[in-house]
Amino acid sequence: MKKYIVGTICMLLIITTVLPVTGKLNKLETEYFVDYINIVIDEYPLPSPLSVDMVLEESFCRRMSVRSFTEESVTDEELSTILWACYGVTENGNRSIFNPNDSYSTIIYVIRSDATYKYVPENHSLSLFKTGNYLHLGQYTSPIKIGLVWDMDIESDELRGMIDIGMICQNIYFDANALDLGTVTTGSYVEDLYELGIPSNEKPEIIMPLGHPSTPYDFTYDPLPEQNLPLVINNTLSLEDAINNRLIKNKWDDIPLSLLEESQLIWSSYGYSYLFDNVNNKRHRTLPSSWAIYPFKIFAANHSGVYQYSPSHSISEIVAGDQRQKIKNFVESNNITIESASWIIIPFLDTDLGGSQFQKYWYYELGALINNILLETAALNLSANVIYDISDETGLRSALGLSSQPNLRPLSIIPVGNPFSDSNNPPEIPDIDGPTNGVAGTEYTYIFNSVDPDGDDVYYYIKWGDGHIEYWDGPHQSGLDIEITHTYVKQGTYLIEAKAKDTSDTESDWNEFEVTIPRTRTSSYLLFELLLERFPILERLLSLLL
Ligand SMILES: Cc1cc2nc3c(=O)[nH]c(=O)nc-3n(C[C@H](O)[C@H](O)[C@H](O)COP(=O)(O)O)c2cc1C
Repeated sequence: MKKYIVGTICMLLIITTVLPVTGKLNKLETEYFVDYINIVIDEYPLPSPLSVDMVLEESFCRRMSVRSFTEESVTDEELSTILWACYGVTENGNRSIFNPNDSYSTIIYVIRSDATYKYVPENHSLSLFKTGNYLHLGQYTSPIKIGLVWDMDIESDELRGMIDIGMICQNIYFDANALDLGTVTTGSYVEDLYELGIPSNEKPEIIMPLGHPSTPYDFTYDPLPEQNLPLVINNTLSLEDAINNRLIKNKWDDIPLSLLEESQLIWSSYGYSYLFDNVNNKRHRTLPSSWAIYPFKIFAANHSGVYQYSPSHSISEIVAGDQRQKIKNFVESNNITIESASWIIIPFLDTDLGGSQFQKYWYYELGALINNILLETAALNLSANVIYDISDETGLRSALGLSSQPNLRPLSIIPVGNPFSDSNNPPEIPDIDGPTNGVAGTEYTYIFNSVDPDGDDVYYYIKWGDGHIEYWDGPHQSGLDIEITHTYVKQGTYLIEAKAKDTSDTESDWNEFEVTIPRTRTSSYLLFELLLERFPILERLLSLLL
């Protein structure tokens, strides 16, 4: 009889651990079960990203679309590098792309021959979504497909979601090409992703096949002839360095940039490569465009006037004199003093070229070009910001001498310059308060409080010690108690670490706070409880035995 019971328990153990993997039990049950027996069966940590030493400008210039791939697989290290660059968490706790509202609404599905996974940026891991080979979804044949999906619960505006996706895809292109892999943005057949059974609040937007190009890259250095802008040069930062060093600021020292700096910034947004692609017999641009339409016109303003950029790498003055204060008047920039920025870049969508049926793709391209400017800003050791709320498009057009072109729609403003060198003080190390011990599975409230000596609002970055992180929660009033709840699902001793930053991104040091979640009930007891709950017959068998 004992043998029979032990056998039954073993069988049930197998059923309860195998079924969740094959997707026959619902996900919540799986997580609950997995957490309590301290094994994670559906999340796989990625290896550390590779160090790619190609300089950023060369990555911009090698960006091109690849549509035919060999069967050679992509290594986990290569995949890890690309995923970190496109959506990972940076050294200082930011995301690799920039969203001013912190509403990162993209879900990244990684489709491999064994299964489909979701990328978990917080843990830099892959979480199993569905077993089976779904590589037939979308266009082209490749060893990996990356599905980019907009989560409408996180960001209700699809166009804002597309801006993020444009940024993400740029970094996929850059690292793929730098690793001698290839990719292409595809907007066709993305509805195929519904076959994966994605939740109803998610909408497929883009699929990027990833693999080794069937035809190796073949470029020749052949810059466009010098006109009134200097030739594009390579700086020293790699894509990874630029992502980690990106500086978002609200105020700048109003000193002119050099012509080379202005040139590099505007070129990064929309210019042509200094490399000629011998395979396709063409020169690519620093970003892709749907049907290669390239519907944007790029303008920029400095202390001496407003200029239009020609992607053949020249600028022409369209208004003389400083228009920056006027620009500021037509923009909802809150506390961003854009009039102090040395070089204000304004991408206009030419609606004669970019029709409304592809509107979301133009927002993708807007994200792509902004991403490039932010990265080049870091490579030049400058700082920038991004504003999307333009309150008066007509007024802005008139300030820039574009009243006769109502087909030009300003979609954002990117102020760039040297960060304001004031005597800003960092916020104080945040106090942390809350229960020092508790029970696994119970939610507790912790209080964080940091005072900023300049009275600036503060943000909190909190590592809970169990792999969960709060990314710059805020803004909060300086010196105010901020309550944040957390639940530890497993027993153990955890170190909460928290730091604060002010609105100028100046950071405090870390504070620490130890929490102990004692082992109240053993894992095996909990497992036994779960088995009894799930299989009442077991209880009857046990009562027979005892
Ligand atoms: C939003 C968007 C959607 C695109 N959709 C497709 C597509 O469905 N299939 C495809 O082969 N290429 C697609 N492309 C890639 C463009 O065709 C490509 O970027 C353009 O021809 C320029 O070539 P290049 O990227 O090699 O410089 C898309 C690009 C963008 C930006």
